[in-house]
Amino acid sequence: MQKIAEKIGAEAIRGGVHLSQRHDSAHKHVTGLAEYTDDIPEPAGTLHAYLGLSDRAHAEIVSMDLAAVRAAPGVIGVLTAADVPGHNDISPVGKHDDPLFATGKVEFHGQQMFAVIAETRDQARRAAKLAKVDYRDLPFVTDVAEAMKANYPFVTEPLKLERGEVEPAMAAAPHRLKGAMRVGGQDHFYLEGMIAFAVPGEDDEVTVYSSTQHPSEVQHMVAHVLGVPSNAVTIVVRRMGGGFGGKETQPNIFASVAAIAAKKWRRAVKLRPDRDDDMVATGKRHDFLNEYEVGFDDDGRILAVDGTFAARCGFSADLSGPVTDRALFHADNAYFYPAVRLRSKPMKTNTVSNTAFRGFGGPQGLIIAERIMEEIAYALGKDPLEVRRANFYGQGERNVTPYHQTVTDNIIDRVVDELVESTDYAARRQAVIDWNAKGGVIRKGIALTPVKFGISFTATWYNQAGALVHVYNDGSVHLNHGGTEMGQGLFTKVAQVVADVFQIDLDRVKITATTTAKVPNTSATAASSGSDLNGMAAENAAQQIKDRLIDFAAEKYSVDRDQVVFQPNAVLVGNRRVAFDDFVKEAYMARVHLSAAGFYKTPEIHWDRAAGKGRPFYYFAYGAAVSEVSVDTLTGEYVVDRTDILHDVGRSLNPAVDKGQVEGAFVQGMGWLTTEELWWDDKGRLRTHAPSTYKIPLAGDRPAIFNVRLAEWSVNKEPTIRRSKAVGEPPFMLGISVLEALSMAVASLAGYAECPRLDAPATPERVLRAMDRLAGREA
Ligand code: MTE
Ligand code: MOS
Repeated sequence: MQKIAEKIGAEAIRGGVHLSQRHDSAHKHVTGLAEYTDDIPEPAGTLHAYLGLSDRAHAEIVSMDLAAVRAAPGVIGVLTAADVPGHNDISPVGKHDDPLFATGKVEFHGQQMFAVIAETRDQARRAAKLAKVDYRDLPFVTDVAEAMKANYPFVTEPLKLERGEVEPAMAAAPHRLKGAMRVGGQDHFYLEGMIAFAVPGEDDEVTVYSSTQHPSEVQHMVAHVLGVPSNAVTIVVRRMGGGFGGKETQPNIFASVAAIAAKKWRRAVKLRPDRDDDMVATGKRHDFLNEYEVGFDDDGRILAVDGTFAARCGFSADLSGPVTDRALFHADNAYFYPAVRLRSKPMKTNTVSNTAFRGFGGPQGLIIAERIMEEIAYALGKDPLEVRRANFYGQGERNVTPYHQTVTDNIIDRVVDELVESTDYAARRQAVIDWNAKGGVIRKGIALTPVKFGISFTATWYNQAGALVHVYNDGSVHLNHGGTEMGQGLFTKVAQVVADVFQIDLDRVKITATTTAKVPNTSATAASSGSDLNGMAAENAAQQIKDRLIDFAAEKYSVDRDQVVFQPNAVLVGNRRVAFDDFVKEAYMARVHLSAAGFYKTPEIHWDRAAGKGRPFYYFAYGAAVSEVSVDTLTGEYVVDRTDILHDVGRSLNPAVDKGQVEGAFVQGMGWLTTEELWWDDKGRLRTHAPSTYKIPLAGDRPAIFNVRLAEWSVNKEPTIRRSKAVGEPPFMLGISVLEALSMAVASLAGYAECPRLDAPATPERVLRAMDRLAGREA
């Protein structure tokens, strides 16, 4: 058959798998033609909602007088807890600790208490400020250390992971050291803020256009607050302008309010908060206070690790359980701990309930592994890279994680070796040391940090996906699946898979908005598993149709099934070659079913949380980065001079998109550890709630030299979609190389005799203070 195909001279399809393809919306993003929720034309009579937020961190609500709000120009009405027709509860994990509107008390500064609905957004926004609320203040804590001191409760069950005997191993270790590290939180700073646009339908029906990573959850939540079954609620999202985990559970607030108002007033209702309110009222990355003890030998080999990971969870559980679990799952990073005990402390605080953010707690745990490497290196006077290499997971031995999963796909040595070679790491490190020895104002630092990141949702049931593929009788293909597009290129990758199954050009596959009406019971597009899950489900759907087409042709033309071959934009049946469109038309006329629902569930994985044992991850993704920085010792200001990354995405479905993910993730990780600082004042108010006070990296902050390569030789050992690997989150943690390079520059002021123990974010102020301390200067 192959011979015949060659004779006919078939070319490759345009846009198949493993090819660099531009993001399907790239040109629309830059020309403004990409439609976001706020761009959807509003039907006549559309109303606008705005949230009324608390201005106390913890208080009883003695009374709430909304008369002035109701009387304000343009106001149609207000909604409070009493107006919620179903349940006043949007807890995504069934803990009933997340009221849609506060009743009786408020538990953080910025909690939603009511909503006002008006003719225009501006009227609603102004009216919301007119509420007169009488509070009785209660004691509060905003900080995780204070919360522990005040014996605040956990918001959810803590986790313990344990392997081996920690006490005796620690006691027998030739060296021991203890430390603590504060790891900051992070605002998602998606370009498109939160938004929901609800259009009422007949009877109990409502359609909500929501900027959400998790349409099914928004659907269930809207049904829950309305007191209607899920079949009455349809959620639609064509794309988000970024989510980064911030739109996994937090859109529930906005969608619920818009839907209740739309049903109540029978008009379309839109809710879009200002950036300030978005930042104040929605959850962020958890900041952590981590404590560690490590025992090690003269070679820097770890013998025992004991760690606690306390997180500022905010007032409710939200996703803090799985987030703090994932911190523990990544506290080993790429290193073998012979004896280990890790504990999470998901602390309640009177702050906004923290939530998913790229890496999902993993980065906050993983950074401790890297801090430990750094500590050991300074203690022994070694290059941290040498300590890292001494502790990497082995091949066939020293390969069991703290959660008792065996690492069978380890490629960290090869990744690191190649990067060391290609970046001339050893010579450059020596050059940095020589430069610093001159004692100038500008000091330099260089660091190589690796990442190993587990792929799968640790909530096992989330590892399922559905897709719906139609082939219309003109040969055009309609693709839908449960994944959402937030800029990461998921829709393009899944379309490439479908194009490949049918062997048709990519532009013949129509990418369509995610909607709960087409594919039900979907998981959040999260845990980096969007293409793993939805790619497989879509392939399954397309393959079902293809199988029916093959059956049809084999029977009609009396040939064997293997005589029906899909060639680029054509089908070869025996010796007869038909254009794909004509072939489909023929099949339609013969009444072949040209639509299919596909399904996929990740095999092999299981997790016993109580025992702390299992295989929570289907596989691991690996990578490494070398960063070099320059620091001004008089001001603490710094620049990243150069970063080189080698990252593993298995056999990439789309190298261009994957490289973009690696670049973006690295820069976002670098921002988390350097300039992005969240700061609450003594009244519990978040004071960094706009770009004026919260500094994300700008184009000019990217490394001056920035080389990103994919490990092209890598192939996923597991049969994932075309042997690719997830890419969304793992490279985020490569930003740690910048923090450690800064640390080296600081350490140079004291002859590298002491680990500077920089907390994160290492803002210029914090770097300056660390340098003052090490240099023995007056602050
Ligand atoms: N890339 C862009 N451009 N925008 C985003 O919001 N979110 C990240 C990552 N990359 C994000 C992104 C996060 S937190 C995750 S979990 C993954 O994308 C989700 O998409 P995927 O599973 O399809 O990779
Ligand atoms: Mo990503 S934090 O899993 O949405």
